[in-house]
Amino acid sequence: MKINNFEFLVIAPSGEQARRYFQSNQNIVTKDGGLPIQADKLRHQIFKEEGYVRDDPASHHDTSANDKTWQLVAIDKSSEELLGCIRFILFDQKNDIPEADRIVKMCGIDFEDKKSRTNIVGLIKTHLSNLRKKNKSLMYVGGLAVNSKGKKLGYGAILGLATNAFMRIVGEAEGITFAQDYQGGASLFRRLGGYRIKEKLDSFYSKNHSCNAQLLGLDPLRIDARLESMIKALEDKLRVSKVLTVS
Ligand SMILES: CC(C)(COP(=O)(O)OP(=O)(O)OC[C@H]1O[C@@H](n2cnc3c(N)ncnc32)[C@H](O)[C@@H]1OP(=O)(O)O)[C@@H](O)C(=O)NCCC(=O)NCCS
Repeated sequence: MKINNFEFLVIAPSGEQARRYFQSNQNIVTKDGGLPIQADKLRHQIFKEEGYVRDDPASHHDTSANDKTWQLVAIDKSSEELLGCIRFILFDQKNDIPEADRIVKMCGIDFEDKKSRTNIVGLIKTHLSNLRKKNKSLMYVGGLAVNSKGKKLGYGAILGLATNAFMRIVGEAEGITFAQDYQGGASLFRRLGGYRIKEKLDSFYSKNHSCNAQLLGLDPLRIDARLESMIKALEDKLRVSKVLTVS
């Protein structure tokens, strides 16, 4: 996987947000060219192929945080095909970090029983309270999907590493994600700054995604030193990538 084979496009929720974090970037443009829709379509198609979602995309998408939603899309330079995408919801204002119930709602998880829901909500509360104490912004990370033609070529890892680079760009925010066990999403994130908020907590089953998932905290500074130069290169690439603003 060569970093020069693809380019990133960043989709920002607004011009104001884009300029806040990419102020020295000359490539902020207000026309999105339908890219957010294409990225959503790709994600939905991949998730459908994996059996994570039913037909109706609306049944899975929480639109209440659209004004805070960023996307990162990797595009093949020669074919211009979408290789993969990932979505971030950034809560960057003091006192803006949501309650645990809202985080659960964002992911749309349908828990098997009340006990697993209570456990997860408790863990999220612990995580959010730690972030508040550290005065950190929160980035909810989700929707990682790689085009089925490009799987196992390293794009999932690239997007995971770029997520860490992105967290550094937005003021060293820390993250939270629900990552699935089945295709290796959880193991991928755990190699790239992801950690269990409480050790020994087993995976739980999400009925509507029909798979086991893990709740992970994400810390862009907890990365294996061997990946540091790659993250730095991705951060440099992101800083000059085209940023498309939705409004
Ligand atoms: C899960 C998914 C994103 C993985 O993407 P991918 O591009 O196929 O995976 P990669 O080629 O990047 O990674 C393959 C392996 O190499 C590792 N890897 C590759 N490059 C790496 C790097 N530079 N640094 C560290 N690890 C790397 C990955 O961790 C992974 O390990 P594994 O084989 O033990 O699982 C992809 O299969 C997918 O879209 N699945 C369907 C949707 C989904 O499940 N999304 C995840 C939701 S949490």
